[in-house]
Amino acid sequence: MNGWRLTGLLSLLLLAMAAMFLALHPDIEGLRLAIRATARTSLVLFALAFSAGALVQLVASDATRWQRRNRRYLGVSFAVSHAIHLAALIALARTDSALFWTLTNPANIVLAGTAYLFIAAMTATSFDRTAAWLGARKWRLLHLVGGWYIWLSFAVSIGKRLPQGPIYWAMMAAAIAVGIVRLIAMSRRAKAVPAIP
Ligand code: HEM
Repeated sequence: MNGWRLTGLLSLLLLAMAAMFLALHPDIEGLRLAIRATARTSLVLFALAFSAGALVQLVASDATRWQRRNRRYLGVSFAVSHAIHLAALIALARTDSALFWTLTNPANIVLAGTAYLFIAAMTATSFDRTAAWLGARKWRLLHLVGGWYIWLSFAVSIGKRLPQGPIYWAMMAAAIAVGIVRLIAMSRRAKAVPAIP
């Protein structure tokens, strides 16, 4: 499975997962399950897209070449997953605003909201036409800064939940692993550039 078909299939599965939680728990609990589950699917999809270029550079294999080929489609699937996270959050805020404000605060909304601005800009420039319109240098800068900002948002959101149990330690390990893979690949590329005499 490759390309936009992959994004289509993953999007359908994500929507089905959220719908299933709401059908099984047609209340606040269903919304909270959907919020938590989409945060986790988002982490997996983001990790795959964010590490794709670095992994194929460090360990070229059929799997990493598939991941690199589908980086854009995994990235857009991450955006779909996080759009569901946002939709469920808005539903929770409308249904039980007191609970919503015990789970988050204005500072978090500003910082996490900025991540959504990056996600929107990166998704909008994930099509051949829009990427060409932006130009290669600006595209690389937007996706580099945006990628690391989203990575940081995951590290912060997971970090504050570490006392809640081992699942958050596993999620943090995954986030740190993809960050390290990116840094190693970046430093190897920098060393490979011949020094200016
Ligand atoms: C305005 C933006 C956002 C708000 C208001 C928000 C709010 C929340 C809330 C209230 C929860 C906890 C739900 C519960 O315990 O029932 C949650 C979970 C989470 N969010 Fe978001 N979020 C936002 C954006 C983001 C972004 C941008 C990221 C990462 C890039 C993110 C990652 C997470 C993670 C990792 C969890 C933990 C899920 C779990 O328990 O496994 N969120 N978010």
